[in-house]
Amino acid sequence: MATILSVSGSPSATSRTARLLRHLDDRLRAQGHDVIPFDVRTLPPADFRHTAIVEATALFERADGIMIGTPVYKAAYSGLLKALLDLLPQYALAGKTVLPLATGGTTAHVLAIDYALRPVLNSMGPAHITPGWFTLGKDITEDDDGTLTVAPGAAGVLAQVTDQFSLALGGRPTLRRRREPAMTHVIADDAERILPRAELDELSASGLLGITVPRSHGGAEVSARTLGEVVRLRSAADAGIGQIPQHHFFFVMRVFERFRKRRAIDLMRVATAVCS
Ligand SMILES: Cc1cc2nc3c(=O)[nH]c(=O)nc-3n(C[C@H](O)[C@H](O)[C@H](O)COP(=O)(O)O)c2cc1C
Repeated sequence: MATILSVSGSPSATSRTARLLRHLDDRLRAQGHDVIPFDVRTLPPADFRHTAIVEATALFERADGIMIGTPVYKAAYSGLLKALLDLLPQYALAGKTVLPLATGGTTAHVLAIDYALRPVLNSMGPAHITPGWFTLGKDITEDDDGTLTVAPGAAGVLAQVTDQFSLALGGRPTLRRRREPAMTHVIADDAERILPRAELDELSASGLLGITVPRSHGGAEVSARTLGEVVRLRSAADAGIGQIPQHHFFFVMRVFERFRKRRAIDLMRVATAVCS
């Protein structure tokens, strides 16, 4: 599988961006990749010839894929990340697949990846920049035991963009590993009326079922195009559950359509009406 360099561009010692990346590193490892974590803040003050920069350049050269995470500072990516990018060769990303990620304090800067980071990455000659994602810092929390939790709406989309990056690098889809060969199992399961309960629990726990919930209610409110791509990727990974969430997404859409029209009405009453 591919070698992935997972680069955090935050100067913070308690960086949410870095913690989020380390969390996604595990997902990529589970899909068969060799992941090398890299925190730019560990580099010393350096110029082009400094050993640390020569070594960092070698890490970029060795990698097939680069996952780059940055906090949004002053409506753009961090200065620390730019300091490293400036010291790398002009075409340090030539032939690489790149996943850009950002964390920030306000959705006002949700497009910072696209207007600030992406043009700089593009100038370094990557083969492919896969769709990125901006995560609100408040959606990333850590328990006392160090377990990282990402809010459901964000977790689902992050899983999706990470899987898309992984697939571009030839990774194994997470769900396919458990039900391979997918179609043979699906046909046999359908014939015997075996329901994929464990896989559906896993889908639910991933947060993907919340991605169409409106932002006003804490969801990701993804576009129809993104939803279609999520269903396509899930179906490719496991045809047995690919279509099942269709009813769920339709139900969620109807609930919020009715909710918007009749704001004063309690959500549960609307849900009951939709069911009946
Ligand atoms: C100096 C500074 C500037 C910031 N500017 C912005 C900003 O313009 N837009 C935004 O959404 N968040 C901004 N933030 C919030 C950070 O992007 C957010 O807290 C992020 O999750 C921090 O990630 P980190 O813990 O990896 O450093 C700023 C934070 C700092 C410290």
